[in-house]
Amino acid sequence: MALHKDFESLLFSEEQIKTRIAEMAAQIDIDYKGKTPLLIGVLKGSFIFMSDLMRAMKIECTVDFLAVSSYGTKSETSGQVRLLKDINENIEGRDVIVVEDILDSGITLSYIMKLLSMRRPASIKLCTLLDKPERRRVQVDIHYRGFEVPDAFVVGYGFDFAEKYRNVPYIGILKPSLYAR
Ligand code: PRP
Repeated sequence: MALHKDFESLLFSEEQIKTRIAEMAAQIDIDYKGKTPLLIGVLKGSFIFMSDLMRAMKIECTVDFLAVSSYGTKSETSGQVRLLKDINENIEGRDVIVVEDILDSGITLSYIMKLLSMRRPASIKLCTLLDKPERRRVQVDIHYRGFEVPDAFVVGYGFDFAEKYRNVPYIGILKPSLYAR
């Protein structure tokens, strides 16, 4: 399979992603046995990961989504998080799993975890496909982590540059010539 022309290199193949998600789903199945967790996806990036994760899970679960913005069109976080779309469900007493595509500075997730914790869920955990620890500015607890990644511009499998490449089925690094950092 030829790598997308705008990708400099491949980070995780479809097969690697599938295998890792199956492992994460199996762990969630064990941890939430007999419960019905509510998966909350953070739009937009996480929708691809969330749809594969929940289909790999065997226990009962429900889903909801929220949307925030902190990056605008830039590659550096503004540090300000805005809630663009709230969840529809009442999460009081629910076992919540926040599903994110990447933890970078941690600013977005720390805001989301605080916001949702105030609504008194029975429990709240964080599941992220990628973790970029080099860029962390705020400490956030991760309960389920897919892969650790270097500080590079990742695209594909939900990750975009200017809204493109989300539908590429694998994760790679974007050619630096395509953006000015
Ligand atoms: C990404 C990602 C997280 C956030 C992580 O979203 O999905 O929400 O950035 O960054 P942080 O740890 O530095 O806060 P992005 O703003 O790129 O939006 P998208 O999911 O719609 O692509």
